[in-house]
Amino acid sequence: MISLTRRVPDLDATREFYRQFGLQETSPGTFATTVGGEQLFLLAGEIPQVVEIHIGVDAATDLDQVAARLKAFGVAAERAATSLKAVEPVSGVAVRLSVAPRLPKDPPPSAPSSVERTELVRRGPLVPLRLGHVVLGCTDVERAKGFFIEGIGMRLSDYVIGGPFMRFETDHHNIVLLPAPMTLLHHTAWKVRNVDEVGYGGSQMIENHPERHAWGLGRHGASANYFWYLKDPAGAFAEYYYSEMDDLADGPYFWDPVPGTDDLPVAVWASPALEERPLIPEAMRAPLLAANEQ
Ligand SMILES: [Fe+2]
Repeated sequence: MISLTRRVPDLDATREFYRQFGLQETSPGTFATTVGGEQLFLLAGEIPQVVEIHIGVDAATDLDQVAARLKAFGVAAERAATSLKAVEPVSGVAVRLSVAPRLPKDPPPSAPSSVERTELVRRGPLVPLRLGHVVLGCTDVERAKGFFIEGIGMRLSDYVIGGPFMRFETDHHNIVLLPAPMTLLHHTAWKVRNVDEVGYGGSQMIENHPERHAWGLGRHGASANYFWYLKDPAGAFAEYYYSEMDDLADGPYFWDPVPGTDDLPVAVWASPALEERPLIPEAMRAPLLAANEQ
């Protein structure tokens, strides 16, 4: 289980975006999914900021192990009886681990079960199943990767466009670091029940809001996720995703990198993007251009 706390400049508009995205607002700024429970916490702030990533662990003994690993890695951790908190030194993002029950298994994908075609017509609102991954722009991905892999104990699945894709268990990735000239939230990704829901969610979000459209519908190469990315009012992207490959992942080694597959494309297919580099958050564009000119 993973959850995220963010600060955003326009809290009301960002809350409205995530309500329309399908998250359930349980109290102002707190958003829940159907399987994952409360997984997004929005706070007001002058600039967009990632405050904390929260990760559930099985037992206090896991916290002991992480505390020892972090100490060996040279990062101090605050330890309480059922939780542990440490600050990732590159981004300054707090990472909190606490003992929490495992999420139930995702429900099986919903597919039409008969030739009754009206089943395809959506009659209720779309509510994502759970937050699957958080992607951070980071100024030193190798050092930050050490914190998550050597310190927290995550596993490396793949590198894509210079970023380590890391996981806790059977998802292809739960935390990704992308090289960037500053720390920022690149995107959060929310699992839905099938590719129809990716398409349904994306198309209903851009209806009357073409400015929200970033990239989709498409399918990623490494994770095999179908995707559709939308821009939120705080400058990050929100992704609907689904992959039937997740249902094939039967153990912790499923996604370990396969030699010779390090050139997997970001997308194996996708509709043309509206902009040349659709997944560069606006906050990153000027610094990136400046860096490229040096
Ligand atoms: Fe993603």
